[in-house]
Amino acid sequence: MASLVASLVALEAVGLAPLGRTTWRAAAGASKCFPSPVFGPGSYPPGSSHPPPLAVGLSLSSRTETRSMAKGKWVNWVVKGEGPGPRSSIGVSSTGGSDVFVLGGETEARVPAGIAQVFRFNVSSLEWSMISPQEGSPKPSNRNAHAQAALGDEIYVFGGRQGVEVGESALNDLWVWSTKTGAWREVEPQGDHVPEPRSYHAMTSAGGRLFLFGGCGQEGRLADFHSFDPLTSRWEQLPSPPGIAGRGGATLEAAGDLICLFSGFEGKESRDYLSYSIADREWVVHDKPEIVSERSVCASFALPSGKVVVFGGEVSPSERGHDGAGGFSKEVFLLDPASGSCERIEVDAAGGCPEPRGWGSGCRVSGNVGAFFGGLTGSDSDPRRLGDAWGLEISE
Ligand SMILES: *[C@@H]1O[C@H](CO)[C@@H](O)[C@H](O)[C@H]1NC(C)=O
Repeated sequence: MASLVASLVALEAVGLAPLGRTTWRAAAGASKCFPSPVFGPGSYPPGSSHPPPLAVGLSLSSRTETRSMAKGKWVNWVVKGEGPGPRSSIGVSSTGGSDVFVLGGETEARVPAGIAQVFRFNVSSLEWSMISPQEGSPKPSNRNAHAQAALGDEIYVFGGRQGVEVGESALNDLWVWSTKTGAWREVEPQGDHVPEPRSYHAMTSAGGRLFLFGGCGQEGRLADFHSFDPLTSRWEQLPSPPGIAGRGGATLEAAGDLICLFSGFEGKESRDYLSYSIADREWVVHDKPEIVSERSVCASFALPSGKVVVFGGEVSPSERGHDGAGGFSKEVFLLDPASGSCERIEVDAAGGCPEPRGWGSGCRVSGNVGAFFGGLTGSDSDPRRLGDAWGLEISE
């Protein structure tokens, strides 16, 4: 069956999709943007720059590498209560207290788990609770591959892709969920500019504004960059990061006065590394880090120091698009968007260590502690969504 899907996917890629809207046809369509079926692991020409299989995580290349002064420690949280369960493509945000909020994602390929019902994880008590949308209030439609970011006590959700049963069309609506009241409201943007519909895009917040990058648009992968100001309800198009192809699954983190952009899937995995100065409205292109391989759908969080912690990611795409699972990493490294450095973090895994994964999500909780949830691991024949919860403490 896998090879059937792969061949249909390949047909789709060259514009020769079989006629008729069968389930597999839908599968091929969904795979068109991200991850691309064209560059399945088997299709790399010999001697190409295809990344080595790093699914075993910490098996590093023999290259001389810069060892970071930073150290990390994994904590496998033994949780209480009913959480979201195994999911990929979730969003995770903190608004600064002991709570982390987990939204959306999928429990099986391309089937939205629902975004209106939010899961709260208390990092002190390690307890999950579920917050149903406020009775009678409007709520966002089900979707996969949304992007979210916290501003104040609220979590903003932009876009995503609807389920298979409704044609998987992309969205560009902006919703706000209040962590205080549990109410959803839809933002009516003012002005002429609204970013086009998309999925697998990335969003972060800084200085009271949202910053949105890339994703899979209706006509292909995007590399555009926008900000949203909640005080005026206006979107503004910002300079696009120079010299990079459109992509889904990029890492985007606000770090001090900079926005750090790393990796993503542009038809192949990448390790592009740039930073955007909010004050100067300018991008700086950094050298591609030598010590990490190309990847996408990493999980990350920014430290108060302005450095960005990146965990895992997909290092080789699946041949089956969204129905399978590619190769994954469990590496942890530290980006400094101010200097353009990338250093590996030595992590104490005495208390366990998360298995390699992509498509999960993380956020900073407090101090130098981050939280990571969910994701996808396994292989094309055995893709597995994850429902575990991990703390990562960094000492710089
Ligand atoms: C989180 O857990 C701590 C410790 O048990 C507790 O003091 C706090 O009230 C909890 N927070 C919420 C929002 O329930």
